[in-house]
Amino acid sequence: MSEATAQQNKNQLDWFLLGRVLKQALPYRKIFILSMSLAIILAPVGVLRPYLIQYTVDNYIIQFNYDGLVMMSGIIIAVLIIQSFMRYVFIYSTSLLGQSVIRDLRVRVFKHINSLQLRFFDQTPVGRVTTRTINDIETINNVFSQGTITIIADILQVLVILGVMFYTSWQLTLVCLITVPLLIVATYIFKEKIKHTFQIVRTEISNMNSFLQERITGMRIVQIFNVEKEELEKFNKINDKYTQANINAIFYYAVFFPVVEILSAASLGLMVWWGARGVLTDNISIGVLIAFPLYISMLFRPIRILADKFNTLQMGLVASERVFTLLDNQSKIENKGSLLKEKIDGDIKFEKVDFAYDGENFVLNDISFDLHQGETLAIVGSTGSGKSTIINILNRFYEIQNGNIYIDNINIKDYELLALRNRIAVVLQDVFLFSGTVLENITLRDESITKEEVIAAAKMIGADDFIQKLPNGYDYQVMERGATLSMGQRQLISFIRALVFNPDILILDEATSSIDPESEAIIQYAIEKLIEKRTSIIIAHRLSTIRHADKIMVLDQGRIQEMGSHDELLQIENGHYRELYEVQV
Ligand SMILES: Nc1ncnc2c1ncn2[C@@H]1O[C@H](COP(=O)(O)OP(=O)(O)O)[C@@H](O)[C@H]1O
Ligand SMILES: [Mg+2]
Repeated sequence: MSEATAQQNKNQLDWFLLGRVLKQALPYRKIFILSMSLAIILAPVGVLRPYLIQYTVDNYIIQFNYDGLVMMSGIIIAVLIIQSFMRYVFIYSTSLLGQSVIRDLRVRVFKHINSLQLRFFDQTPVGRVTTRTINDIETINNVFSQGTITIIADILQVLVILGVMFYTSWQLTLVCLITVPLLIVATYIFKEKIKHTFQIVRTEISNMNSFLQERITGMRIVQIFNVEKEELEKFNKINDKYTQANINAIFYYAVFFPVVEILSAASLGLMVWWGARGVLTDNISIGVLIAFPLYISMLFRPIRILADKFNTLQMGLVASERVFTLLDNQSKIENKGSLLKEKIDGDIKFEKVDFAYDGENFVLNDISFDLHQGETLAIVGSTGSGKSTIINILNRFYEIQNGNIYIDNINIKDYELLALRNRIAVVLQDVFLFSGTVLENITLRDESITKEEVIAAAKMIGADDFIQKLPNGYDYQVMERGATLSMGQRQLISFIRALVFNPDILILDEATSSIDPESEAIIQYAIEKLIEKRTSIIIAHRLSTIRHADKIMVLDQGRIQEMGSHDELLQIENGHYRELYEVQV
């Protein structure tokens, strides 16, 4: 979507974008001003040295003035030292500026990603988001360390050199500049070619990240189905494209740099030829003849580098546009409600709710039901019938199209979003654990929850035993995604997680599906403890979990088919629930 705008801006510098990037440096304006001042001072200081050499040759060496030569050498060395020191401060401060800006930017992007609605993640590959946060932000650093200030410094230097050269001998300068039109053409071609290849490089990095991220996460499937070879082929393809893009870039560099060398040498040759004639006719001093080659090398170097820096700046801007697009993405759930409740009763009411994830294909139709404080609702239905969706919209992870949802007779849109979600705990079948200790996985680093509370909660649902038996107990290090724990153990941890947050509404989405019969008793006990005195919604397949619910909803293709208590539903002739019951018993 943003690729089109990126394409448009490709051919010219986007000043608005540049301005926006530079604005990020506002908190560091002191460093910015320091770098800028140094850039301005360094331009004439850099040119001073050849000029001093020229002066020394003409006024001391040719006159055989030894003392004068020693003095001038001292001055030249002093200038060199001062210049080196200033260059050091300049490079350090521009890099510091860039690093500080991108550090802040990373925080902003991370915060922003956290606030986006789940729909965004349904539609965006994880690898792409990772690339935005790491590689693209890294590239923005170039705008500061390679672009803007250093470009201005180089341009200033070129201008000052030209000024001094013209002042010294305008004829000789013009002779030196004969090759410049060629240089400009070569630079332009180089700049265009390299820009294009770098765009491909960036796209391929993003593709590679997305691919790797997904394969590594799904490694188990790759190995179970023995598709390593096929995956390797796919990887090879992406890798080849990436390599080719990089090689293309290197190719242009390899051609461009020698071309500039040749032009620079030609310039030097012309200058010597013309200059020598000048010396013979006494128009040009020996000092000038010695200083001019230095000027020429100082002139061509920045011009050569400028083309490169300009590209780097351009790349930084392309990257910044991607990052800004992400930051500008307001794909958030509208949070206009202001109601903050410490505690809710937990009356839930759905009123003629219709919902489609994509706005077109409705997966919930005309859903209406009432659930009172402390009651338990069980939802049954085949896979894909919309059970999890009911939970997603109650939490406001997605926005409904028609109808209303009330909690305590207040529309859920009127609640402050985080305050609402705070009161609802969801335990999913697929428990996600982060790398960290068991304790951290339970509290999610919420400092207000003490270890004692965690242990009390664990004891309450009967999970304390197994945690104590782990090496280091509650400080046992869980690996990424909880890979070193069994499903049942992960499930128990997620139950404690739900319990310590002390929610007013509890939702279990197939939380018991992957439990072995042995642990089932523990889990069943845990569930009873969890739903005690709370409004609860349980999605389950096992009748043992469902039958005690106050209400049971049978869902089919997004519509409520039957609703009532266990006994009521059994009365219905040819009823879905009765069928289910007969199959299981
Ligand atoms: N994030 C999503 N984006 C688009 N469609 C979805 C999404 N999640 C689920 N669906 C679709 O919505 C329907 C109901 O899904 P779900 O509520 O998860 O079913 P289940 O009853 O198995 O929990 C399914 O057809 C599914 O394909
Ligand atoms: Mg589901």
